[in-house]
Amino acid sequence: MCGIVGYVGRRNAVSVLLRGLKMLEYRGYDSSGVAVHNGANLCVVKRAGRLCALEEALSTREVKGSCGIGHTRWATHGSATDQNAHPFVSSYGKFAVVHNGIVSNYLQIAAFLRERGVSLASDTDSEVIAHLIDYYYTGDVLSALCRALCDIKGSFALAVISVYEPHVLYGVRKDSPLVVGEGKKEFALCSDISGISDFCSRFCALQNGEVVRLSEEGAALFDFYGNPLPMRFENREKELFEDREEGVDDMLSEIRSIPASLRLGFEKFPKEELRAFLKEGFKEMLVLGCGSAYHAGLVFCEAMREVAEVCVRAEIASEFLTEKPCVGEGTLVIVVSQSGETADTLLAVERAKKCGAKILSVCNARASSLTRLSDFSLITRCGRERAVAATKSYVSQAQYLLLICLEYADITGKTNIDEVARLRREISLLSQKTESICRAEKRLEEVALGLKNAEAVFFLGRKGDLAAAKEGSLKLKEVSYLFSEAYPSGELKHGTLALMEKGVWCVVVATDPSLLQKNAATLSEVLCRGASAVVITAGSALEEAPADYVVTVPEADPVVSPLFSAVVMQYFAYFAAKARGCDVDKPRNLAKSVTVE
Ligand code: F6R
Repeated sequence: MCGIVGYVGRRNAVSVLLRGLKMLEYRGYDSSGVAVHNGANLCVVKRAGRLCALEEALSTREVKGSCGIGHTRWATHGSATDQNAHPFVSSYGKFAVVHNGIVSNYLQIAAFLRERGVSLASDTDSEVIAHLIDYYYTGDVLSALCRALCDIKGSFALAVISVYEPHVLYGVRKDSPLVVGEGKKEFALCSDISGISDFCSRFCALQNGEVVRLSEEGAALFDFYGNPLPMRFENREKELFEDREEGVDDMLSEIRSIPASLRLGFEKFPKEELRAFLKEGFKEMLVLGCGSAYHAGLVFCEAMREVAEVCVRAEIASEFLTEKPCVGEGTLVIVVSQSGETADTLLAVERAKKCGAKILSVCNARASSLTRLSDFSLITRCGRERAVAATKSYVSQAQYLLLICLEYADITGKTNIDEVARLRREISLLSQKTESICRAEKRLEEVALGLKNAEAVFFLGRKGDLAAAKEGSLKLKEVSYLFSEAYPSGELKHGTLALMEKGVWCVVVATDPSLLQKNAATLSEVLCRGASAVVITAGSALEEAPADYVVTVPEADPVVSPLFSAVVMQYFAYFAAKARGCDVDKPRNLAKSVTVE
């Protein structure tokens, strides 16, 4: 899972590539590099570490040229070193390649190449690609590339340049995203549109099995056998909502923009189109997603049980891939993904489709692989999310899932119209009520400072509160590196209570008024064993609870409250991570978009 970019035109390729890589850093930031045709040779500069290390290296060297490729890496095969950084060049510097994906048969290809005298310089699966193209080169770059593609197995998006064609850039796609952009007498390639949208006006998302050749003569599309295909460019709607504060961490800026994205999301929700789709009728539903997207799915399951009286399963996409698929014709699979490019999620969708299920996606990227695979897509309106940790996207997903639940309940007549109208009004107030949470930011920072040195943090809850607790725990661990776990409150006494002692913190999510007594009991159980506690409640007697901190969220129906608790816990995670000196926007070992299985 990496980001790749390429450029051919009249500008200085290095600055275009660096700008693109900056936008792609969310996909990985273990190393970065560029290769540029300088008129005579392929000039390569690459460095382990953040993009600033590459920028520094480039500031001391003159790398000139207007055709080049760049890469930002999330390490999968081989550690994060200069040597394992992309681009990779073939033995005599004839071909340079950047790769996003995994070459599953790279060991066989490496053995094949070694037998033919090629020496490999890295531990990666990617390096073999450059050597293989070189091996097959007999005078025509496109033919050599296509020949090499026949041997490569796995998933790959590639950008390739060669010393033989100073002004030609190639792009390849199989199971990893790649977009072609067209500017003024110039072309670019990128893992996602954001890296090239400042100078390109028309775009083409490559399909699996396509190769594009970009040069001053134009863009030409081919299949993997070199057969020409019709080129297709389309104009792209600009991001509808991009609210970003200068000089503020992306994660904080994104949390603060949640009220605005909820407002826009509510206004733009395509109710009638969704109703038409749902009216088709489905026997059962399943929700699929990974990480925070899966957690948003849990909020949906709870709402479906409470509001529509339907039992819906949510499954982690990678688990769905390994289990016997219990879906078929008549199943509606609701797939949740911010990026629409998560490999596990996409593979799960393909599997569900093969079984005959229909796909409804809730996605933040209109032209993603997921939306292309879906029968119907709802596009969340939170704008681009840059910080690795999902914050505004999770809340927008949960908002849209609640709206799906309401439409379903209404269509099936499971819930009376007054109740549907009441809940719809609750959802319409989400934005306004979340604003009040954002206004209490200082108080939430205080709480975070309280738990920043915890030995472990347990997030406890029941029903919808448990769904929120799971997201709270994920957020805290991924940005602050504190050990955390989410646990059903009622299960504590069956084992985990053994871990409660001084130094351990519990965040008790207790917004559901019907569970007041049970939540009060949970709190007592952990406090009397020496643990410290934060209670998140919504205007109940727990406001007076003897916890170390009590945070009150706006009162709401229990199916809606998890969204408020989640925002509170996003703040906890952010401020705890800041206080611990962590890089909140780019946590260690992670990347925004997980495009490998
Ligand atoms: C956590 C986080 C991840 C993503 C997960 C799915 O903060 O961001 O857990 O939620 O990788 O990503 P998408 O939604 O792009 O499919």
